[in-house]
Amino acid sequence: MNSFAELAARRISVRGYRPDPVPAEVLRRVLETVRMAPSAANRQPWRILVARSEERRRAIARAYPREWLLTAPLILGVAVRPAEAWVRAEDGWNAAECDGAILMTHLILAAAAEGLGTCWIAAFSPSKLREAWSLPEDWVPYAITPLGYPADAGRPKQRKPLDEILLDEPT
Ligand SMILES: Cc1cc2nc3c(=O)[nH]c(=O)nc-3n(C[C@H](O)[C@H](O)[C@H](O)COP(=O)(O)O)c2cc1C
Repeated sequence: MNSFAELAARRISVRGYRPDPVPAEVLRRVLETVRMAPSAANRQPWRILVARSEERRRAIARAYPREWLLTAPLILGVAVRPAEAWVRAEDGWNAAECDGAILMTHLILAAAAEGLGTCWIAAFSPSKLREAWSLPEDWVPYAITPLGYPADAGRPKQRKPLDEILLDEPT
């Protein structure tokens, strides 16, 4: 298995963290990797929000009230701004949320490469998250994730087999 295949197989959603802080240089490496994410027309219509303090993290947890979220020392959020994103001329499709998904994918994998856990969360209350982050109207809260060292060991992946999702020509 190559190192990317190994990383993708190892990364799982982590819903319980050790209280150990994330060293500043480790967080920096993750964020520098995230910054390399591609986006349509290279517009990079995103911001990454970092919540460190108990107060900030509790405010975010009001938008997604799960005890395990607060076990992580950090909560990161990704917001996208459709007005900055590339728009396809023929049908007006806006790439902002697609760009956000690519950023998040880089984030969860870059974190896993550092031995950190994440959990992509979309089931938050957008209005409460907007309030917690004082996000201006033209920014869309796209996803949040806790960031920290996992409390437990990994678990096997639950995935559809390849032959169920693959529509390949017979060889
Ligand atoms: C777009 C998206 C939204 C998700 N939202 C949530 C969520 O709100 N809460 C949660 O606990 N997990 C959430 N997840 C995590 C998925 O449940 C998880 O990725 C999936 O079950 C596969 O498990 P794995 O990440 O451990 O491989 C989300 C994942 C994605 C990609």
